[in-house]
Amino acid sequence: MASLEEIAKQVANCTACPLARTRHKTVPGDGPLNATIMFIGEAPGFHEDQQGHPFVGAAGQFLEELLASIGLKRSDVFIANVVKCRPPNNRDPQPDEIAACAHFLEAQIAAIHPKMIVTLGRFSMAKFFPGESISRIHGKPRRHGDVVYFPLYHPAAALHQPALRRTIEDDFKKIPELLASLEPIPDEPPAESATQLSLF
Ligand code: URA
Repeated sequence: MASLEEIAKQVANCTACPLARTRHKTVPGDGPLNATIMFIGEAPGFHEDQQGHPFVGAAGQFLEELLASIGLKRSDVFIANVVKCRPPNNRDPQPDEIAACAHFLEAQIAAIHPKMIVTLGRFSMAKFFPGESISRIHGKPRRHGDVVYFPLYHPAAALHQPALRRTIEDDFKKIPELLASLEPIPDEPPAESATQLSLF
Protein backbone atom coordinates (compact mmCIF):
# COMPACT_ATOMS: atom_id res chain seq x y z
CA MET A 1 0.00 0.00 0.00
CA ALA A 2 1.32 3.46 -0.90
CA SER A 3 2.21 5.82 1.96
CA LEU A 4 0.64 9.29 2.18
CA GLU A 5 4.00 10.78 1.11
CA GLU A 6 4.16 8.49 -1.94
CA ILE A 7 0.61 9.43 -2.90
CA ALA A 8 1.46 13.15 -2.54
CA LYS A 9 4.48 12.65 -4.83
CA GLN A 10 2.36 10.88 -7.42
CA VAL A 11 -0.17 13.74 -7.26
CA ALA A 12 2.65 16.27 -7.74
CA ASN A 13 3.76 14.46 -10.92
CA CYS A 14 0.27 13.79 -12.29
CA THR A 15 -0.62 14.97 -15.79
CA ALA A 16 -3.68 12.76 -16.24
CA CYS A 17 -6.18 15.58 -16.83
CA PRO A 18 -6.17 19.15 -18.20
CA LEU A 19 -6.02 20.70 -14.70
CA ALA A 20 -2.31 19.82 -14.64
CA ARG A 21 -1.68 22.57 -17.23
CA THR A 22 -3.25 25.41 -15.23
CA ARG A 23 -2.45 24.53 -11.62
CA HIS A 24 0.26 26.27 -9.62
CA LYS A 25 0.53 23.70 -6.85
CA THR A 26 -1.06 20.33 -6.39
CA VAL A 27 -3.13 19.95 -3.21
CA PRO A 28 -2.98 16.31 -2.16
CA GLY A 29 -4.43 16.75 1.36
CA ASP A 30 -3.14 17.22 4.91
CA GLY A 31 -3.38 15.31 8.14
CA PRO A 32 -2.09 12.39 10.18
CA LEU A 33 -1.99 8.80 8.97
CA ASN A 34 -3.88 7.69 12.07
CA ALA A 35 -6.75 10.19 11.62
CA THR A 36 -10.10 8.83 12.77
CA ILE A 37 -12.03 11.24 10.57
CA MET A 38 -11.44 12.27 6.95
CA PHE A 39 -13.08 15.42 5.58
CA ILE A 40 -13.42 15.43 1.81
CA GLY A 41 -14.16 18.64 -0.05
CA GLU A 42 -14.52 19.46 -3.72
CA ALA A 43 -11.39 20.96 -5.27
CA PRO A 44 -8.68 23.48 -4.42
CA GLY A 45 -9.55 27.17 -4.85
CA PHE A 46 -7.26 30.14 -5.38
CA HIS A 47 -5.49 30.08 -2.00
CA GLU A 48 -5.15 26.30 -1.93
CA ASP A 49 -3.59 26.37 -5.42
CA GLN A 50 -1.10 29.02 -4.26
CA GLN A 51 -0.17 27.26 -1.03
CA GLY A 52 -0.55 23.53 -1.84
CA HIS A 53 -2.77 22.89 1.20
CA PRO A 54 -6.53 22.21 1.36
CA PHE A 55 -9.09 24.56 2.92
CA VAL A 56 -6.77 27.50 3.68
CA GLY A 57 -9.15 30.27 2.46
CA ALA A 58 -12.46 31.55 3.90
CA ALA A 59 -14.15 28.13 3.70
CA GLY A 60 -11.16 26.66 5.52
CA GLN A 61 -11.43 29.20 8.30
CA PHE A 62 -15.09 28.29 8.74
CA LEU A 63 -14.18 24.58 8.69
CA GLU A 64 -11.66 25.25 11.49
CA GLU A 65 -14.40 27.01 13.50
CA LEU A 66 -16.70 24.04 12.98
CA LEU A 67 -13.94 21.66 14.08
CA ALA A 68 -13.29 23.80 17.18
CA SER A 69 -17.01 23.67 18.03
CA ILE A 70 -16.60 19.93 18.63
CA GLY A 71 -13.19 20.19 20.29
CA LEU A 72 -11.08 19.26 17.27
CA LYS A 73 -8.16 20.93 15.51
CA ARG A 74 -7.16 20.70 11.87
CA SER A 75 -4.21 18.56 12.82
CA ASP A 76 -6.52 15.94 14.41
CA VAL A 77 -8.21 15.09 11.10
CA PHE A 78 -7.26 14.38 7.49
CA ILE A 79 -8.56 16.96 5.01
CA ALA A 80 -8.59 16.21 1.28
CA ASN A 81 -10.51 16.97 -1.88
CA VAL A 82 -12.12 14.92 -4.63
CA VAL A 83 -9.91 16.72 -7.16
CA LYS A 84 -6.31 17.58 -6.28
CA CYS A 85 -5.76 20.52 -8.68
CA ARG A 86 -7.65 23.80 -8.98
CA PRO A 87 -10.24 24.04 -11.76
CA PRO A 88 -9.69 27.38 -13.58
CA ASN A 89 -11.78 30.21 -12.07
CA ASN A 90 -13.11 27.73 -9.50
CA ARG A 91 -15.47 26.14 -12.03
CA ASP A 92 -17.04 22.80 -11.12
CA PRO A 93 -14.70 19.83 -11.57
CA GLN A 94 -15.66 17.91 -14.71
CA PRO A 95 -16.55 14.19 -14.69
CA ASP A 96 -13.32 13.26 -16.56
CA GLU A 97 -11.24 15.23 -14.03
CA ILE A 98 -12.99 13.58 -11.09
CA ALA A 99 -12.49 10.15 -12.69
CA ALA A 100 -8.81 10.78 -13.42
CA CYS A 101 -8.19 11.83 -9.79
CA ALA A 102 -10.32 9.19 -8.04
CA HIS A 103 -7.52 6.69 -7.46
CA PHE A 104 -5.56 9.18 -5.35
CA LEU A 105 -8.42 9.67 -2.90
CA GLU A 106 -9.05 5.93 -2.83
CA ALA A 107 -5.36 5.31 -2.04
CA GLN A 108 -5.50 7.91 0.77
CA ILE A 109 -8.61 6.27 2.26
CA ALA A 110 -6.91 2.86 2.07
CA ALA A 111 -3.77 4.21 3.79
CA ILE A 112 -5.64 6.04 6.57
CA HIS A 113 -8.54 3.65 7.03
CA PRO A 114 -10.66 6.28 8.85
CA LYS A 115 -13.64 5.38 11.00
CA MET A 116 -15.64 8.26 9.56
CA ILE A 117 -15.67 9.99 6.18
CA VAL A 118 -17.36 13.40 6.19
CA THR A 119 -18.25 14.59 2.71
CA LEU A 120 -18.37 18.36 2.21
CA GLY A 121 -20.62 19.44 -0.64
CA ARG A 122 -22.27 17.65 -3.49
CA PHE A 123 -19.21 16.49 -5.49
CA SER A 124 -17.78 14.68 -2.53
CA MET A 125 -21.24 13.37 -1.58
CA ALA A 126 -21.78 12.07 -5.13
CA LYS A 127 -18.72 9.85 -4.83
CA PHE A 128 -20.15 7.95 -1.87
CA PHE A 129 -23.90 8.54 -2.31
CA PRO A 130 -24.44 8.53 -6.09
CA GLY A 131 -27.80 9.84 -7.26
CA GLU A 132 -28.63 11.44 -3.89
CA SER A 133 -29.48 15.05 -3.22
CA ILE A 134 -27.61 16.91 -0.51
CA SER A 135 -30.70 18.75 0.72
CA ARG A 136 -32.29 15.36 1.43
CA ILE A 137 -29.40 13.46 3.02
CA HIS A 138 -27.19 16.06 4.77
CA GLY A 139 -26.60 15.19 8.41
CA LYS A 140 -27.79 11.58 7.97
CA PRO A 141 -24.99 9.09 8.59
CA ARG A 142 -24.75 5.78 6.77
CA ARG A 143 -22.56 2.90 7.72
CA HIS A 144 -20.88 0.79 5.06
CA GLY A 145 -18.63 -1.97 6.36
CA ASP A 146 -16.66 -0.49 9.25
CA VAL A 147 -16.82 3.11 7.99
CA VAL A 148 -19.51 5.70 8.69
CA TYR A 149 -20.16 8.17 5.89
CA PHE A 150 -21.58 11.52 6.94
CA PRO A 151 -22.69 13.97 4.23
CA LEU A 152 -22.63 17.70 5.01
CA TYR A 153 -23.16 20.88 3.06
CA HIS A 154 -19.99 22.53 1.79
CA PRO A 155 -18.69 25.16 4.26
CA ALA A 156 -18.27 27.66 1.39
CA ALA A 157 -21.97 27.33 0.53
CA ALA A 158 -22.99 27.61 4.17
CA LEU A 159 -20.70 30.52 5.01
CA HIS A 160 -22.88 33.30 3.63
CA GLN A 161 -26.34 31.73 3.86
CA PRO A 162 -27.65 31.96 7.45
CA ALA A 163 -30.05 29.00 7.11
CA LEU A 164 -27.41 26.68 5.66
CA ARG A 165 -24.88 27.92 8.18
CA ARG A 166 -27.14 26.91 11.05
CA THR A 167 -27.74 23.56 9.34
CA ILE A 168 -24.05 22.73 8.92
CA GLU A 169 -23.35 23.85 12.50
CA ASP A 170 -26.10 21.55 13.81
CA ASP A 171 -25.02 18.65 11.59
CA PHE A 172 -21.42 19.05 12.74
CA LYS A 173 -22.45 18.72 16.40
CA LYS A 174 -23.64 15.17 15.68
CA ILE A 175 -20.07 14.05 14.93
CA PRO A 176 -18.87 13.41 18.54
CA GLU A 177 -21.93 11.27 19.33
CA LEU A 178 -21.50 9.33 16.09
CA LEU A 179 -17.85 8.70 16.88
CA ALA A 180 -18.68 7.60 20.40
CA SER A 181 -21.23 5.15 19.05
CA LEU A 182 -18.45 3.56 16.99
CA GLU A 183 -16.23 2.88 19.99
CA PRO A 184 -16.35 -0.81 20.86
CA ILE A 185 -17.80 -1.52 24.32
CA PRO A 186 -14.93 -3.00 26.37
CA ASP A 187 -15.33 -6.71 27.01
CA GLU A 188 -14.10 -6.89 30.62
CA PRO A 189 -14.97 -9.55 33.17
CA PRO A 190 -16.81 -8.09 36.17
CA ALA A 191 -14.74 -7.23 39.24
CA GLU A 192 -14.59 -9.99 41.84
CA SER A 193 -16.89 -8.21 44.28
CA ALA A 194 -19.39 -7.63 41.49
CA THR A 195 -19.31 -11.35 40.68
CA GLN A 196 -19.97 -12.19 44.32
CA LEU A 197 -22.79 -9.71 44.54
CA SER A 198 -24.43 -11.21 41.51
CA LEU A 199 -23.92 -14.76 42.87
CA PHE A 200 -25.51 -14.18 46.25
N1 URA B 1 -13.14 24.22 -1.14
C1 URA B 1 -12.87 22.90 -1.27
O1 URA B 1 -13.74 22.11 -1.59
N2 URA B 1 -11.64 22.49 -1.04
C2 URA B 1 -10.67 23.29 -0.65
O2 URA B 1 -9.57 22.81 -0.44
C3 URA B 1 -10.98 24.66 -0.50
C4 URA B 1 -12.20 25.10 -0.74
